[in-house]
Amino acid sequence: MLAGKTILLGVSGGIAAYKSVELVRLLKKEGADVYVIMTEHATKFVTPLTFESLSGNPVFTDVVGEYKKYPVEHIVLSEKADLMVVAPATANVIAKFANGIADDYLSTTNLALTCPRLICPAMNHNMYAHPATQANLKRLDSYDNYQLMEPKEGRLATGIVGKGRMPEAIEIFNEIKYLLSPKDMLGKTVLITAGPTREHYDPIRFLSNPSTGKMGYAIARKAAERGARVILVSGPVSIELPPKVKVVSVNTAIEMREAAIKYFDETDIFIGTAAVADYRPKNRAAEKIKKGADTLILDLEKNPDIIAELGQNKDQRIVVGFAAETNNGFSYALEKIKKKNLDFIVLNDVAQKGAGFGVDTNIVKFVFPDGTHEEFPLMLKEDVATKILDQIMKL
Ligand code: C5P
Repeated sequence: MLAGKTILLGVSGGIAAYKSVELVRLLKKEGADVYVIMTEHATKFVTPLTFESLSGNPVFTDVVGEYKKYPVEHIVLSEKADLMVVAPATANVIAKFANGIADDYLSTTNLALTCPRLICPAMNHNMYAHPATQANLKRLDSYDNYQLMEPKEGRLATGIVGKGRMPEAIEIFNEIKYLLSPKDMLGKTVLITAGPTREHYDPIRFLSNPSTGKMGYAIARKAAERGARVILVSGPVSIELPPKVKVVSVNTAIEMREAAIKYFDETDIFIGTAAVADYRPKNRAAEKIKKGADTLILDLEKNPDIIAELGQNKDQRIVVGFAAETNNGFSYALEKIKKKNLDFIVLNDVAQKGAGFGVDTNIVKFVFPDGTHEEFPLMLKEDVATKILDQIMKL
């Protein structure tokens, strides 16, 4: 999603500079064109060659001669840039930016920029707490186009625990993606169910399925990037939580239904990606069932159909369902749209390679109430998520 974007990465002289190496790698992987600008002190922590090799672009430093090699590059770069991220931003750089000082490559470029900047302060906790630093940060925050990322509490380079740690590269990367996404879903609340449910028949055993939550989590992440308020009701999964998303953890279908109903009133768009168990054991033994008889018969009863219930009460809301089928998918999907009162259904043929549970890709078809459909090739779940949200915004 960062293809075609030019990102400047300003690195100043702090030990956290090593984390920015990983940040360049993440940005490049996502297709961004990255130019690194280092202060002279930064070059003592990480060599320009490291950033040059990873970014594939020349690195701009304060070393004498650089200006000669690329005389007006700081102006050219500032015109090209979509965003400048400064990580780590030392107290010194923050002070310069806040006061309009332009005495090196980084601070000069900063003054010439008109694009947004993301400033990631990282320093000793006393330096961070100093009233001068706090006043400078406040001043920066009051300028247009400056976004600050709070440093974290934790063990600092000196071994002392305090506030001043730079966020991890992945967190900065997520913030960059958020800042660069068009905010076409601003003001919308999206409720998503994801993952499997667990239906216990004794305290330690349950019926479940191999859903990993990847599809629902990808939709949650993308919707949040596009500015939506996202509530993710999630069964037990072990994947990374998407940033800027409210996660409500549940276990059983009954708990998932309760949580979904609780937030449905405030919802504009409901997307049911969860692989909800259709049946649950009628009885849950209070103690572990001992191994004994050759056969064990479990009595099952039907779980509530969450999306069908919400679909019946949808009013102006958009309700989108998923269908994982191994045969006759299309006719089942059409039947489900009617029965559950959905706006469309995302059908995946889980029998195909690269589709369905556990994998990072999916092969889907959107099926609409009038019987029409749109087919997509094998795509990353992230891209499927984008297509789903695009379709919803069209509706
Ligand atoms: O009927 P089926 O389980 O195939 O329907 C799949 C769709 O319905 C998915 O969107 C799933 O999240 C949702 N669903 C639900 N509650 C159930 C079963 C399925 O919300 N009990």
